[in-house]
Amino acid sequence: MSTCAPSGPAGAGDVLDVLGVGFGPSNLGLAIALAEHGDAAEAAGRRLTARFLERQPRFGWHRGMLIDDATMRISYLKDLVTLRNPTSPFSFLSYLHDRGRLVDFINYGSSMPSRLEFHDYLEWAAAAFASQVDYGSEVVTIEPEVGAAGSADSGVEVLTVVARSAAGEVRHRARNVVVATGLTPQLPPGVVAGERIWHSRDLLHRAPSVAGTTPRRVAVVGAGQSAAEVADFLHRTFPAAEVCAIFSRYGYSPADDSPFANRIFDPGAVDDFFDASDDAKRRILGYHANTNYSVVDPELITDLYRRHYHERVAGTERLRILNLTRVGDVVETDDRVELALESVVDGSRDVVSVDLVVFATGYRSSDPLRLLPALAGTCRRDPAGRLRIGRDYRVETDPELRAGVYVQGATEHSHGISSTLLSNVAVRSGEIVASIATPAAIAAAPVGGNGVDLAELRGAR
Ligand code: FDA
Repeated sequence: MSTCAPSGPAGAGDVLDVLGVGFGPSNLGLAIALAEHGDAAEAAGRRLTARFLERQPRFGWHRGMLIDDATMRISYLKDLVTLRNPTSPFSFLSYLHDRGRLVDFINYGSSMPSRLEFHDYLEWAAAAFASQVDYGSEVVTIEPEVGAAGSADSGVEVLTVVARSAAGEVRHRARNVVVATGLTPQLPPGVVAGERIWHSRDLLHRAPSVAGTTPRRVAVVGAGQSAAEVADFLHRTFPAAEVCAIFSRYGYSPADDSPFANRIFDPGAVDDFFDASDDAKRRILGYHANTNYSVVDPELITDLYRRHYHERVAGTERLRILNLTRVGDVVETDDRVELALESVVDGSRDVVSVDLVVFATGYRSSDPLRLLPALAGTCRRDPAGRLRIGRDYRVETDPELRAGVYVQGATEHSHGISSTLLSNVAVRSGEIVASIATPAAIAAAPVGGNGVDLAELRGAR
């Protein structure tokens, strides 16, 4: 543990069994799995204590892209619980029942709810755990602790999680941390977000800033699902504006949502992927990238194409497809953005002036260890520099670090393509709880604590 710089004891606070960093769908799924495990563990007289820290002021799942008619890309049966526990009170069906819409949803006739409805479901589930979550609390670092439970030579059993909130700095002590901080929005190199340069994640947050104005030309860069949704949104929202869809591909490509390919998101696919060689992993990701990356819902492609065609017929072309085109320099002036465009075909260049540009250029995984700099030398990496993560999502460490560091999300290299998605949240949460719930982990936790009583939750609704 030579690279660790252990802090002293964090204070008199109790040591939690689980401290979740971030409270998006992944750690919400974990909170439910912990609560349901707690019900079962009640008989044994022990339940795990848990707390979650979330930097947003309230629960929110990609609020900036909650476009009114956007639909989920997965079945409602891949909710927070069903694949792990079909009888859970936190299923999408329970939510519908609670909202009085069960039969209406059946008549709706699709297994894919709208994104707005799924967000409402997630908020509904998150509300039941409000007492376990500190919103407006951003984790800034996680430190190893030596103190009552450990000493320099016996290793580190407790981690101190340091969070910043309006109330100042708060320190929490935990035997396990589960880092589920999601992905980081990505802009092309050299592009900086500004008044008129947005990332798609901020679309609905920024759109009101131009409400009441009449943009003449707007642009969206990218060819994936978000890019197509943004093009559609801008086209509907600004009926007088030309919408330039700019991408280096020839055209939008359809997402492969066919049943055999969909098995790549099955819980069993995680085992296959985890056990595969590096070469096989690369191939699997390559074969099925078109289930998730740079692809678009076929219905939306058809809709955009028809709109584009009808406009051409009418001689009022507003939806402009600038395919085989790369964006170079992006310069924001007082009231415009100048986009340097380059043809992929012959390298010819042009400059287009727009009122605003939305970069739907995706997200990247960030290294969870950025929050644990003092543990960097203790956590193991593969020859490519990627974190070694066990099948149970626990980061492999030197034996001196006995506290558990678990990761949800940033595990595509080890657990496969479903890592950053919702498909596997239910099962993965159960696997993490099973890993944490060893006798040693629960020994010190009294019944009750911060654990959630499901009967109480049901009553509270
Ligand atoms: P998520 O990003 O949702 O949550 C992480 C949380 O951690 C955030 O709330 C963040 O504020 C918080 N956080 C970050 N750093 C922190 C810190 N230092 N301290 C405290 N809190 C911190 N997938 C799918 O399967 N089906 C679908 O239909 C869609 N649809 C979809 C639409 C759009 C517009 C996007 C952008 C993405 C999707 N996805 C998707 C993929 C999506 O990433 C996935 O559904 C979940 O958001 C993953 O949940 P997580 O909880 O892992 O991350």
